[in-house]
Amino acid sequence: MKSVWEKEVEMPSFGALEDDIEVEAAVIGGGLAGLLTAYKLMREGVDCVVIEEAGICSGQTKNTTAKITCQHGLIYDKLISSFGEDLARLYAQANMRAIDSFEKIISDEKIDCDFKRLPSYLYTKENTQALEREYDAACRCGIAAELTENTALPFAVKKSLRFDGQAQFNPLVFADQIAKKLKIYENSQAVSAERGVFTANGHKIKARHTVVATHYPFINAPGYYFLRMHQARAYAAAFTGCGELDGMYYGIDPGLLSFRNYSDMLIATGGSHITGECEGGELDAIGAKVRALYPRAEEQARWSAQDCMPPDSVPYIGRYSAASKNLYVATGFRKWGMTGSMVAAEIITDMICGKENDCNRIFSPQRGLSAASCEIARGAGRTVNSLVLKKLKSPPKTADKLKRGEGAVVAYGSGTAAVYKDENGVLHAVSPNCTHLGCRLSFNSELNLWECPCHGSYFDIDGKVQGNPALKNLKKL
Ligand code: FES
Repeated sequence: MKSVWEKEVEMPSFGALEDDIEVEAAVIGGGLAGLLTAYKLMREGVDCVVIEEAGICSGQTKNTTAKITCQHGLIYDKLISSFGEDLARLYAQANMRAIDSFEKIISDEKIDCDFKRLPSYLYTKENTQALEREYDAACRCGIAAELTENTALPFAVKKSLRFDGQAQFNPLVFADQIAKKLKIYENSQAVSAERGVFTANGHKIKARHTVVATHYPFINAPGYYFLRMHQARAYAAAFTGCGELDGMYYGIDPGLLSFRNYSDMLIATGGSHITGECEGGELDAIGAKVRALYPRAEEQARWSAQDCMPPDSVPYIGRYSAASKNLYVATGFRKWGMTGSMVAAEIITDMICGKENDCNRIFSPQRGLSAASCEIARGAGRTVNSLVLKKLKSPPKTADKLKRGEGAVVAYGSGTAAVYKDENGVLHAVSPNCTHLGCRLSFNSELNLWECPCHGSYFDIDGKVQGNPALKNLKKL
């Protein structure tokens, strides 16, 4: 499965770390947040390297829908309730500035990445009150917003909320051009060593400042991000034969799709669920809904993305922990990784360069999370279920009962195994427990992956780790 961007753009490759290095700043993680942070640091004259465990943009960046917007679902009403109007306004300003920053970089570097300013809409078929509240909140936060019933969608909506001046682009063309300006080591998995020094491929990375931009932070302590963030998965497909919309659309009711155009295609997204809770059929359901709207639609690509979800809906950007002076983190962008990455790059660059940045007041990972205590309790419940309760139950199946193309945790000798039976009838058996903190894995039948419901690590059918925070492969059985 490849996204439209991945099908079109071949990313450049870089050599692995083969020596000890000493630099002013090291950015761990070569996704968009890492690349932008390194780019901003380089522009400030900071000697900086990017350390990437596989290839740049090979994680979630290649799977984004690449909407560059400060319209992050229903957010501003919630932010005003949780943080107050002053901080909610800061959140809006940081994200509006991020759109301008993309435009400026694209213009400065002359990057032909299909960047377009367009409006962004939230739409509803039933919940007009939520949109009216969001409209009020957006206006209080200084966003040019408008409520309307007229959209370019091929069905009637009850209400939509338009933000003007948002943008979309091709993320891999952009990242490709940025990466060419940076010093990057690929195939170099950074691990935390003693006294704040990291190593990769057995070589020391001595850096005055280190930024962890690895999607989900992989250092458990300090920071304890695994206690305050879960992951969610969503699915996307691109279709020709659908015509053009006037902007980007995000449905706020359960089951509604979100849309944007790219080239002659319509990208539709939906089917979101907490990682590890796939029901199956999510991508086919998107296809059926799109074909019901556009009978001539033909699917050209399908893919999936995973997002880190902080309980109060605000990314964690800043010091990794109160005690880590020169260690920084950028994570928790929810479904809004384009603006989130730019906001993170700007805040962290300012911190490293000793410049004031007012946005620390809302994005700091050290902010209080009391308003999010229900979400945190739900996450703890999921962890107890996957770490303890699921392991106490005997698996209902044995491997010989699996159908071709099916995966399940099954009885195996005196214990259990995570087993997938491939289309040729061959069994692939691995340990059923996540290598991060040991939670029981679930099978994602849409993607043929083993997923961890606790913090969202995922593994292929032969146990190879595909997504952090886990760093080690599952044991083959
Ligand atoms: Fe934390 Fe699996 S990702 S236990």
